Amino acid sequence: MSLTGNKKSTEKESLDELEKVEIELLLEGIYRYYGFDFRNYVSASIRRRIWYRIQTERLKNVSSLQEKVLHDPCVMARLLSDFSIHVSEMFRDPYFFKSFRENVVPLLKELPFVRIWHAGCSTGEEVYSMAIILKEEGLYHKTKIYATDMNEDLLKKAKEGVYPLDKMQAYDDNYLKAGGMKELSEFFDICQDKAIFHPVLTRNVVFAQHNLATDHSFNEFHVIICRNVMIYFDRVLQNRVHRLFYESLSMSGILGLGNKEDISFNNYSHCYEAFNQEHKIYRKVK
Ligand SMILES: C[S@@+](CC[C@H](N)C(=O)[O-])C[C@H]1O[C@@H](n2cnc3c(N)ncnc32)[C@H](O)[C@@H]1O
Repeated sequence: MSLTGNKKSTEKESLDELEKVEIELLLEGIYRYYGFDFRNYVSASIRRRIWYRIQTERLKNVSSLQEKVLHDPCVMARLLSDFSIHVSEMFRDPYFFKSFRENVVPLLKELPFVRIWHAGCSTGEEVYSMAIILKEEGLYHKTKIYATDMNEDLLKKAKEGVYPLDKMQAYDDNYLKAGGMKELSEFFDICQDKAIFHPVLTRNVVFAQHNLATDHSFNEFHVIICRNVMIYFDRVLQNRVHRLFYESLSMSGILGLGNKEDISFNNYSHCYEAFNQEHKIYRKVK
């Protein structure tokens, strides 16, 4: 390689190193000032979102974003929203819900009461899906669902249970694949272009802010569902969250993960058996 080539690659390396330091300082500042801990999120995804915010705010670099974020809570709120990747859908991966209905529900029917935790519930589609299954299976009246997310704006939407009407056809298809017994439209009213889910579905739901990176266990559960959340965490944070779930699950309790997530490779994997490996449903056995 020529000398100029060497120089160029050294300059690039040093810029990359500088950006890495700036990102670490930004995340440290956010943690110390606002209490949100993104230090153990997958770095490529965090970096992409930081640059999206830099460009949208018409800034120059990570340090200028740090200055804005620390001095303007509105910029922090916008960055938090960038970091909370919140895509969700009802009966997402319908065969997960089908397996839950066919294999987990019979176990829950044996219990005098049931506590379920949806961690990282986003705008609530997953929670309404679960509530519908429990209603149809005659379990809802003895169930308490705790629906948590780190982002309060998302939780507000989850509580409202109002979704675009044009999504309902796809959700109805999912619902039927998940073993739905009626039509999804029996669970919502229509107002203009919105589907408003019946409040009875959230009668036994507690929506609360909870951060998996920093907060502790708050109850003991028979079921914990945490899907499509830990894919954004590095191994250190995944281990922390698995510890939290292990401590929060009752013996023989069920853990449901997303289809790109796995129980393997964390410090607690040996405490679970695969209840349905294909659909990432596990049972705590020790
Ligand atoms: C892609 S959504 C998943 C929603 C739903 N579980 C599903 O599978 O459709 C990821 C959610 O995790 C939440 N989240 C990310 N980091 C979190 C953390 N540290 N604590 C709690 N929630 C978190 C985000 O705010 C977002 O709502």
